[in-house]
Formats: sequence, structure tokens, C-alpha cells
Amino acid sequence: MDLRNSTVLITGGTSGLGYEFASQLLDLGSTVIITGRDQARLDQTKRKLPNVHTFQSDVSDPEAISQLFDNVTRQFPELNILINNAGEMRKLNLLDPMIDQDNINREIAINLSGPVRMVQQFLPHLLKQKSAAILNVTSGLAFIPFPLSPIYGATKSGLRAYTQSLRVQLKKTTIKVFDLVAPGAKTPLNDKFGGDVDSRMMMEPDKLVKVAIQGLTKNKVEILPGIAGIMKFLSRIAPGVLFNQFSKIAEKSLAQAA
Ligand SMILES: NC(=O)c1ccc[n+]([C@@H]2O[C@H](COP(=O)([O-])OP(=O)(O)OC[C@H]3O[C@@H](n4cnc5c(N)ncnc54)[C@H](OP(=O)(O)O)[C@@H]3O)[C@@H](O)[C@H]2O)c1
Repeated sequence: MDLRNSTVLITGGTSGLGYEFASQLLDLGSTVIITGRDQARLDQTKRKLPNVHTFQSDVSDPEAISQLFDNVTRQFPELNILINNAGEMRKLNLLDPMIDQDNINREIAINLSGPVRMVQQFLPHLLKQKSAAILNVTSGLAFIPFPLSPIYGATKSGLRAYTQSLRVQLKKTTIKVFDLVAPGAKTPLNDKFGGDVDSRMMMEPDKLVKVAIQGLTKNKVEILPGIAGIMKFLSRIAPGVLFNQFSKIAEKSLAQAA
């Protein structure tokens, strides 16, 4: 992909990997548009990255996606790259009686339905571009579930499966479909896992996004930064090894919280 001459829409660009994508793509000369739910965080990001364009929008809300599409494509008809980055990861005890039907679905609405709806909404527009891309941010946890975040892993496995099918269906179009299989990274998403996960295993967000951008530039459709490649390999040859480790972490954390 020629990123210098691209216009990129990043969902969830006010923090973590989304913010890094925005910052590094601006440095490369891309036109960058970001979204987020919190207007104050969007304003703060605009102060740090004055050339970024911001739109308040919630990916879990289909109405908001439709509104975003109208506003973005009107102002940026040359939009040719969509990065589905917005996501949430929660620690969940499935035995907690406070978890109701809406609550249990939250990560599905953001991490899985969000990208699927974004693609469906923006697809006709991207098809008109000479060169276009969709990058979905999945996770190493798509390969090996982390039982402390039972819904999160399911959304990332689902998003990976969807991304693979999308790539096949768009094969004969000008749209390339990328899967960024992100390993653990030092972003606010992980703040709540402080004592549970060893931060030495986590990648710096700037390094992770640098690898992702290299992958986009070289048209590498499956991007596996840091230990994501090892997770993929282990999930095939010895699926129990990491899963047993993750299960122990979950059991310990749930027992401590009880
Ligand atoms: N960090 C990791 O270890 C890791 C590992 C693998 C994969 N990932 C994936 O990488 C992506 C980015 O994660 P991160 O670590 O950078 O998280 P983060 O630092 O918590 O940032 C999340 C961003 O998404 C936005 N967001 C959350 N819910 C949204 C919604 N419903 N609509 C629009 N924007 C929303 C947030 O802004 P608002 O709250 O203001 O909306 C924020 O800008 C996620 O898909 C995550 O699953 C992360």
C-alpha cells in the first residue's frame, strides 16, 4: 500500500494502538481520521496531533456508523483505508450475578459487530477507490483463549475468521484485507490486568504499530508482531501449553477477587 497518498480512517484513535497508528501514519504523510466515544479525549488527541481529523462515533451503535459514513465520505471522498482498531477487553467472572444480557454482550458489540458493520457500511465506498485496504486488529488471543476474558477471546477468534472470509470474497477487487494479530501491548487496555499478566511479555505500542505499518506497506496480509507468531505456532503444535498457563492465571485472579 502507498500510505503517503492514502486517507485512513482509524476507529478508536485516542489511545494505545489507534493513537500510535494515527501518529505514525501522519509522519508518513497520510491523511488521518480517528474516532472515539469521548469528545474530550478526541480534543486532547487533536491538541497532540494537530493534523488529525476527529469524529465522535461509537462502533457499537449502527446509527452512529451510518452517520460517520455520511460525514467522513462527504469531507474525505478519497478515503481508501479503514483500520478497525476500537476494542475493549474486560475481566469477567461469568458467575457474577450482576452480569445481565446487555452487559455480557458489550465486547461482542464493540469488537466483533463493530468491525463487521463498519466494513459493510464502507465497502461500497472503498470499492470505488483505485487502491484500498481494510485492516482488522485481532489478537494473539484469537489463537489461544484467555479464560479471564472469556468474551474478548471469542470476539477476536470471530473477527479473525470473518477477516479470512472477507479476504476471499474481496480477492477480485482492489481492496486488500489485512489481519493485524496483535500480541499483548503496553496500552491502557491492559491497566486492569496489572497483577495478572507479566508486563515484560508486553510489546511497546510504537514498535508494534511500526511492524504493522511495514506489513501494510509490503502487502503482508497477516501481520504477526512480537510473540504473536509464536502464539500461532504453539496453538498448532502444542495447544495446551499456553492455554494451561492462561487458565492458571485466570483461576488465581478469580479466586483472589472472590
Ligand atoms: N493492548 C493489547 O495488549 C492488545 C493486544 C491485542 C489486541 N489488541 C487490540 O488492539 C485494539 C486497540 O487496543 P488498545 O490496547 O490500543 O486499547 P486502548 O488503549 O484501551 O484504546 C482503545 C481505543 O478504542 C476506543 N474505543 C473503545 N470502545 C469504542 C467504541 N465503542 N467506539 C469507538 N471507539 C471506541 C477508545 O476511546 P473511547 O473509550 O473514548 O471510545 C480508545 O481510543 C483493540 O481492538 C484491542 O482488542 C490490544
